[in-house]
Amino acid sequence: MFDDLKRHAAKVADRRIESLFEASDRAGKFSVRLGDMLFDYAKTNIDVEARGLLIDLLDQADMAVKRDEMFNGQALNATEGRAVLHTALRNLDGGPVLVEGYDVMPGVLETLDRMETFARAVRAGHFTGQGGPITDVINIGIGGSDLGPAMAVQALAPYHDGPRCHFVSNVDPADIADALRGCDPETTLVIVASKTFTTIETMTNARTAKAWMSETVADPAAQFAALSTAGDKTRDFGIDPSRVFGFADWVGGRYSVWGPIGLSLMIAIGPEAFRAFLRGGQAMDRHFLSADWPENMPAMLALVGLWHNQVLGHATRAVLPYDNRLARLPAYLQQLEMESNGKGVSMDGSDLPFDSGPVVWGAPGTNGQHAFYQLIHQGTRVVPCEFLVAAQGHEDELHHQHQLLVANCLAQSEALMRGRDLDEARGKVAGKFDGAELEKQARHRVFPGNRPSTTLAYPQLTPEMLGRIIALYEHRVFVEGVVLGINSYDQWGVELGKELATALQPVVEGGDASAKDGSTAGLVGFLKRNGL
Ligand code: F6P
Repeated sequence: MFDDLKRHAAKVADRRIESLFEASDRAGKFSVRLGDMLFDYAKTNIDVEARGLLIDLLDQADMAVKRDEMFNGQALNATEGRAVLHTALRNLDGGPVLVEGYDVMPGVLETLDRMETFARAVRAGHFTGQGGPITDVINIGIGGSDLGPAMAVQALAPYHDGPRCHFVSNVDPADIADALRGCDPETTLVIVASKTFTTIETMTNARTAKAWMSETVADPAAQFAALSTAGDKTRDFGIDPSRVFGFADWVGGRYSVWGPIGLSLMIAIGPEAFRAFLRGGQAMDRHFLSADWPENMPAMLALVGLWHNQVLGHATRAVLPYDNRLARLPAYLQQLEMESNGKGVSMDGSDLPFDSGPVVWGAPGTNGQHAFYQLIHQGTRVVPCEFLVAAQGHEDELHHQHQLLVANCLAQSEALMRGRDLDEARGKVAGKFDGAELEKQARHRVFPGNRPSTTLAYPQLTPEMLGRIIALYEHRVFVEGVVLGINSYDQWGVELGKELATALQPVVEGGDASAKDGSTAGLVGFLKRNGL
């Protein structure tokens, strides 16, 4: 499938990206706009021919048909027999969305309405704990039931005017202990966020939180809410149905921040700002549904990803937000992209004939510059970089400092592209060294350059903009998954570890480890001798 692209890539392999700017308006022609949002992929080696071949992939994969099938509630998640309809959660003023002939929108809007009523009551102090108005909210969840709201609450800190929010995900008792230490049980609301309500980490932490609360609160369950598809299990846990916010199985965990799983975000920023977040997602949906492929931001973001990963073979991608409040975005995208597209077989069960999705990693600039950018600039592996940058921060009085941040962002993509050749490097050390030493010193200062990057630029990280950004990445995953012919919506790869952990529990509690492999038995023995 990628043969023509690989042939073309080989032909242009030695070309410098900079040389592409000799053509007129490279930046304008190799970027996509959605209103005041700009996705620039001009600093890649994609030329007109490569782009044409990439767009052909969309047609070969029947992308438009698949896209419409997703929005129309077809069971695209074939291994679980489920529709993929997180888009319905932000379909605020759209029409009906049918799943097997049944319109899901009345239910979605009713749940949104219930969430808003509850969030308003918490924020206004009408819903109270035993000791009075809620001061702290603890969201207990993991994976998609944590990463989305945790990332978004941090991203939208300037809009945060509700109670403090804490996120507990890890079964490591340190996580919940640190969160509980800062909270008063009498004024804390615990939200148990779990689609299945069976996830061992979440349920263990939920029981720990309940025990903590019951030390001082007469009716701890009254200060619990649940976000789940499993109404029966939330009832068994003792949570009143009035504080259970359900959603359907057609919302995947890593796509669930738009619905009940976003309750902590809604309590933090308020229902109006949460609706703005949904509207941002909906705006991206409409764009994805209507824009021609070359002007379609999610499609082009995906095609750039396929070019770097499947065509050029770059195995990782760095996500580098020059927007400190997006610090959790790389972690969020790790789940979104790697749990979705980290698959080894095609839809029909046959081995995938090419690499699946890349390893996604990253950290905010400028911090990363002083940590791992060394490898990005001079290491032997090419790491395509995705920069994100806002024109304005929220600290008007510190705008000058923001300008410094932006200068750093733009400098990095320029440096990656341009590099520094040996002559220039020699100039840097001339005068300090000479002869063979000068040559050696200069070589250490060479930057190969010609390293690709893209930049997503936007005016400001508002709730609406965050919604657009998240939906953009969701659709990118969809497009890449359809081209690769995989199911982006299941996650069987997490099962084996869960099963083995359950089987190992009795062993780490003191049971017989002899049936285990020598390494595992040895590690259990070592940890036992040291206090396990
Ligand atoms: O183990 C993976 C996973 O199923 C993710 O897909 C999901 O986001 C996470 O666990 C949490 O699941 P739940 O919301 O059901 O607790």
